[in-house]
Amino acid sequence: MQNFTFHNPTRILFGKGRIDDIAQEIPAGARIMITYGGGSIVKTGTLSEVRGALHDFTVFEFSGIEANPTYETLMQGVELARREKIDFLLAVGGGSVIDGTKFIAAAIPFAGDPWDILAQRAKISSAVPLACILTLPATGSEMNDGAVITRRATNDKLVFTSPLVFPRFSVLDPVKTYTLPTSQVANGVIDAFVHVTEQYLTYPVDAKVQDRFAEGLLLTLIEEGPRALLHPENYDVRANLMWTATLALNGLIGAGVPQDWATHMLGHELTALHGLDHAQTLAVLLPAMLQVRREEKREKLLQYAERVWGLQQGDEEVRIEMAIEHTRLFFQSMHVHTRLSDYGIGVEAIPALLVQLERHGMSALGEHRDFDLTHARRVYEQAI
Ligand code: NZQ
Ligand code: ZN
Repeated sequence: MQNFTFHNPTRILFGKGRIDDIAQEIPAGARIMITYGGGSIVKTGTLSEVRGALHDFTVFEFSGIEANPTYETLMQGVELARREKIDFLLAVGGGSVIDGTKFIAAAIPFAGDPWDILAQRAKISSAVPLACILTLPATGSEMNDGAVITRRATNDKLVFTSPLVFPRFSVLDPVKTYTLPTSQVANGVIDAFVHVTEQYLTYPVDAKVQDRFAEGLLLTLIEEGPRALLHPENYDVRANLMWTATLALNGLIGAGVPQDWATHMLGHELTALHGLDHAQTLAVLLPAMLQVRREEKREKLLQYAERVWGLQQGDEEVRIEMAIEHTRLFFQSMHVHTRLSDYGIGVEAIPALLVQLERHGMSALGEHRDFDLTHARRVYEQAI
């Protein structure tokens, strides 16, 4: 096992009706800005429930944070928050709203050009405190210190991390996920699945509990994902999915083990240039990535084949092949495409994707930092 420091300060309020408990988690007298997306929380009644729970506070709203939140939109939120002297942010929505709110939180007190937080990875010395009410289990953003922000004008989709943007608390009420469209349920399951594989399908370091934990999360997603599509109002299924997605990217399974993340970085360029949902990019790229990297990942692929897919017998190459195929079939069973050609994207799109990766400094990726643009080209080709 590798050395690590693990610290996760986010308080989780899990279960039915927990929005009722948020007032006691927020400092008295706070000037709160509720942030949200395109209006799903208005339709579902969640916004009025949240406002009801905050009747003792001064509350403002900032809406319109889009999927793949943009710098352009978020800077309007920064202006509003600065003008109204907001000192607490409450994100109500999915990963995009939470990520966008993390950026707003960091940008409000930032002295220079806030874009530098992403483009230059400029150090943040303070951030406005934030908390979340999660409505879409997927990204893990509700319990981690990362955010992914897009600049529309330049097609940049970039990541920043800072311990200052860990949410103070997050409400995880599985009932809030009943209204999700099936495509977003599937996206969430696939995103969480690939978060686990980015931290698990690398090379062995004898991290037994991280491996077993990761395998447990994958098996839960495989069992509960299809059930959530069939039974959208099954509380237990939703509860299991919600907690699994949070645990998949809250730092726990990644502590002390090598991490990959190349699939995610290649995926961000597909979203930036072709507009695929984040999870759609992962479903096409992960099977391709595992094919291209099967030698480097050999031992963990065999472990994955055995412990997740029950493949123990026969030739090792066949077992690896079957594990990759099972992964693809699982994504397809969630009704998500696993080929770029399904989205009308062909080989002619690859040069521009590689230019983007190079421009973003993504030419030494993967658990060995040896995944360069030649490998990236092979993965994109394999994904067609
Ligand atoms: O905008 P509204 O109207 O709220 O609708 C949203 C949105 O259209 C809708 N939705 C959310 N909850 C709902 C609901 N509709 C009905 N009922 C509900 N309960 O779902 C749509 C998608 O929401 P979005 O937040 O974009 O999805 P997701 O949670 O998958 O977030 C994706 C973003 O997170 C980033 C991705 O790159 C992408 O930008 N990621 C963030 C990570 C992190 N911070 O750690 C890690 C991930 O790898 C990922 O990159
Ligand atoms: Zn992801």
